[in-house]
Amino acid sequence: MLKGRSLIDPRDFTVEELKEIFDLADDIIANPKKYAKICEGKLLATLFYEPSTRTRLSFEAAMLRLGGKVLGFSDSSSSSASKGESIADTVRVVECYADIIAMRHPKEGAATVATMNSKIPVINAGDGGHQHPTQTLTDLLTIRRIKGEFSNQTIGICGDLKFGRTVHSLVKALSRYKNNKFVLISPEELKIPDYIKKEVLEKNNIEFVEVEKLEDVISDLDILYMTRVQRERFFNEEDYVRLKDSYILNEEKMKSAKDDMIILHPLPRVNEISCELDNDSRARYFEQARNGMFVRMALMAKLLGVCE
Ligand code: NCD
Repeated sequence: MLKGRSLIDPRDFTVEELKEIFDLADDIIANPKKYAKICEGKLLATLFYEPSTRTRLSFEAAMLRLGGKVLGFSDSSSSSASKGESIADTVRVVECYADIIAMRHPKEGAATVATMNSKIPVINAGDGGHQHPTQTLTDLLTIRRIKGEFSNQTIGICGDLKFGRTVHSLVKALSRYKNNKFVLISPEELKIPDYIKKEVLEKNNIEFVEVEKLEDVISDLDILYMTRVQRERFFNEEDYVRLKDSYILNEEKMKSAKDDMIILHPLPRVNEISCELDNDSRARYFEQARNGMFVRMALMAKLLGVCE
């Protein structure tokens, strides 16, 4: 039963519960009219203390397309956080007005604090460099719709594996399915954190390799998940400038990739995927962004208990 629950970490839901969400998202995509009013009278609060385009707008579009309404802020300087209000207090107030909260915050653990103080469901829309579970739902739905399953895949994840919260959540989620292999592609300085390696990959006996060069491994991959170097989480600009263009996926590199390898990216993209690839049939990142809205519709409908 998902009604009344919160989503902070991709493993908060069982594999069966995730399947319920994806099945519902598929049905919403096929029959959007059927769901156009199911959230009438419901209110989503979007509390965004950090910049966002897709995540906030897709949450808002999702609630509006379910017939509900939205309120919130997209800039913490326009909220009482700028006066020193704690997350706990903000949440205690917002729950008096809204039925469900989507929150993004620069601090790791912020969404957990919100959940502990909230009587209504809280959805973590990104907490610092930690987790981003709804991006993972988006990624998984896209993989399922294209590949038909989450198992038996060789998944390359390339770029900023250290600070990229979408990467941490995706590895956590995919490591629950059978026979997946991870190829972790990053510069030495941006390798995946040890806790993911030890507590997720090694603990579950998941096969993985860490490499620096995309060219060496691209031909092995079924899925290539590109990510942006997370400038805002660097301690100095010099390191960012040195590392920002470590990987640029282009037509030349794609020549060695399988015909059915798919390219995903949580977006925003900076330089890591050349625009010349946007019309390649393997480039699926804009479709992925669209799926993000549908999966958030399914998620909110479940947490609000308006869909069985
Ligand atoms: C991601 C994020 O915010 O972590 N963006 C998103 O939600 N689609 C990825 C990023 O910012 O690089």
